[in-house]
Amino acid sequence: MNTAKQNSRCSIPQTSTLNQTMVNVENLSLQMGDKHILQHVSFDLPAADITSLIGPSGAGKSSLLRCMNMLNTDWTGHIQVQHTDIRHWHGGADILRKHIGLIAQKPAVFPVSIADNVLFGLSRSQQKENTSALLQHCLQQSALWDEVKDRLDQPANTLSIGQQQRLCLARALALKPSVLLLDEPTASLDPRSKQLIELSLHELAQNIPILCVTHDLDQAQRLQGNILFMCDGKIIETADCDSLFNHPQKLETREFLRWSVCDCD
Ligand SMILES: Nc1ncnc2c1ncn2[C@@H]1O[C@H](COP(=O)(O)OP(=O)(O)O)[C@@H](O)[C@H]1O
Ligand SMILES: [Mg+2]
Repeated sequence: MNTAKQNSRCSIPQTSTLNQTMVNVENLSLQMGDKHILQHVSFDLPAADITSLIGPSGAGKSSLLRCMNMLNTDWTGHIQVQHTDIRHWHGGADILRKHIGLIAQKPAVFPVSIADNVLFGLSRSQQKENTSALLQHCLQQSALWDEVKDRLDQPANTLSIGQQQRLCLARALALKPSVLLLDEPTASLDPRSKQLIELSLHELAQNIPILCVTHDLDQAQRLQGNILFMCDGKIIETADCDSLFNHPQKLETREFLRWSVCDCD
């Protein structure tokens, strides 16, 4: 299905007012064994906006997010957040991950209650503050509040996978991240929850950069912002949503938008 022809919603004016660069990725490469997973990847994320990362399975999207969060450290090149090289982040990788929230494709909840999962990364002094308001706010932002408000003390692993993924989003939001990386955040959600998450992302993106992997091209258009199209470990094309979906420049991009496949070799 050629969504580009059917849908030009991405031309809605963006609400973001900040446009200075917050994240700068320069010449990022990652090799595992003989395989080149990422090859000379370069892009910027503005201080406040959503950027959708699209591309076929195996393109390297999840690997890229893992490098940006230092879950994978074997890369070469440069990743800067607020002009600081993330390899030299003050306080190390654990502190970095509080600033750069990564919501993985497979949610990893902790074996504690729903409430404790959300508050898990907070310091003791932060936990003494008004945590019930924070808890509610983060669970509302992640479109989970209505489903869990009466069972906050129950173990988190009693939630469905889609609910666990939203719980991980709430946990990341509780730390007030300065960058949010999302790996297919709505893949296991029903349409209503998907819509609520997208609304939250629009709101969050007024203040922070969000990089969102999605296989749903309609969603990438609804999210607006910029699009990175990636295939075979390389960024093939970068453009604002309207240009990429309506006037793709590269043959590979046109093929992918039309057939959801890409042959970059
Ligand atoms: N730990 C690993 N060891 C070897 N190869 C890996 C590893 N993780 C991912 N890959 C390979 O890297 C490529 C990119 O994977 P991934 O980043 O998960 O792609 P995507 O998220 O775009 O589907 C794939 O070919 C995958 O098999
Ligand atoms: Mg992936």
